[in-house]
Amino acid sequence: MRLLPFRVLVASCYLLSAELGAALKIAANLNWIEHTPLLYTINNSYSAGPDRPIMMDGGVITLSDTSDIIIGANSETQGLKQYFLHKNYRLIYVLVEVTYRLVANKIEGVQTLADLKGKKIGTFNGTSAEVFVRALMDNAGLNPDVGDYTLVNTLVNGSMCMRAPCGPGTLPAMLKQREIDAFGCWETAPELAIQDLGEDNVRVFQNATLFREIFSLYATAEALSDTKQRAQIVRYIKSVNKTLELFKTPEKVLPFVSRTINVPETVIGNVWENHVWGPGSLGKELIDFLEMEETYLGRMDNRTAMSRADLENFVDASVYEDALEL
Ligand SMILES: *[C@@H]1O[C@H](CO)[C@@H](O)[C@H](O)[C@H]1NC(C)=O
Ligand SMILES: *[C@@H]1O[C@H](CO)[C@@H](O)[C@H](O)[C@H]1NC(C)=O
Ligand SMILES: *[C@@H]1O[C@H](CO)[C@@H](O)[C@H](O)[C@H]1NC(C)=O
Ligand SMILES: *[C@@H]1O[C@H](CO)[C@@H](O)[C@H](O)[C@H]1NC(C)=O
Ligand SMILES: *[C@@H]1O[C@H](CO)[C@@H](O)[C@H](O)[C@H]1NC(C)=O
Ligand SMILES: *[C@@H]1O[C@H](CO)[C@@H](O)[C@H](O)[C@H]1NC(C)=O
Repeated sequence: MRLLPFRVLVASCYLLSAELGAALKIAANLNWIEHTPLLYTINNSYSAGPDRPIMMDGGVITLSDTSDIIIGANSETQGLKQYFLHKNYRLIYVLVEVTYRLVANKIEGVQTLADLKGKKIGTFNGTSAEVFVRALMDNAGLNPDVGDYTLVNTLVNGSMCMRAPCGPGTLPAMLKQREIDAFGCWETAPELAIQDLGEDNVRVFQNATLFREIFSLYATAEALSDTKQRAQIVRYIKSVNKTLELFKTPEKVLPFVSRTINVPETVIGNVWENHVWGPGSLGKELIDFLEMEETYLGRMDNRTAMSRADLENFVDASVYEDALEL
């Protein structure tokens, strides 16, 4: 090993930590369409250098008090689950609202949601997808907890398919093999099932009022009260907000999104209309929705739902307000 003089070593360690401390670290699931404006912003609104934010795999779950990840991105479902455990987490920006879809195989004679009585519906255990399926079916008067239908809970890791061909055990393949009669979750799995079975052979259900994913950015109250970190967060949110203007015109960003998540432009193009790019409401409308969802999470996780006052404390609109002043 080459020995460096002590002073050089100390100086380079200092430089290194100063650099590491300088860049804003942002964590999201890198497979999903939802995260792509976050990367687009880094690649297009910042010049290369120590100040350019860094995109990493993760989400609100990696935003622990000890990690150096400053912003986590996830659905409101994961946000609420984490907020229940960490009351210092804050929802600071709504990036996109996505209407999920439930796809049923018409072979089973399904024309309406009520026809799914007694059938098997696949979803991802403990995620926003399960909340979606329960909410949609509840509205049709069907509850799996009393046996109206069977919720086939599958694990995200084993059963997710984002790009064709979808192998055995994934939700689109299970639908085709008639192991399940329907499934509901985020894109692109429903789209892949529709393409594979053929539009004429499926019934597709969605209802944005009952459930939509509110994909948001989160930070800790501590990071938000640190002057330097807050300034970085505000600047980043301002830039992301600008990026979203472009995302409203798919032609401008489809090649980037396709390259980033490695899914063909045609597939992404077909699901684009289910994505309403932000900025989404941080006001009463959002709190109302969170309150409704929290009742499902309480049931799913067998815990008391958090109060409205708790939820009001979770949403912090002040960062966005600061960004408006920039
Ligand atoms: C997933 O479902 C199983 C039973 O199907 C349950 O025991 C488990 O707690 C669930 N996990 C989550 C994360 O909801
Ligand atoms: C899914 O896979 C990732 C990476 O392999 C792993 O870190 C994670 O714990 C897995 N999650 C589950 C629910 O098995
Ligand atoms: C969605 O559900 C709400 C609440 O039941 C209902 O009022 C509305 O008509 C539904 N929308 C569609 C498009 O079915
Ligand atoms: C975004 O920037 C990173 C780092 O410079 C680069 O590796 C990546 O290819 C870029 N992504 C796209 C889709 O251009
Ligand atoms: C839910 O919690 C209650 C009270 O802690 C407990 O008695 C019950 O067994 C739990 N049910 C499930 C399904 O975990
Ligand atoms: C975000 O973009 C919208 C237009 O979509 C604009 O009305 C709003 O002022 C922007 N907010 C910020 C913080 O720049």
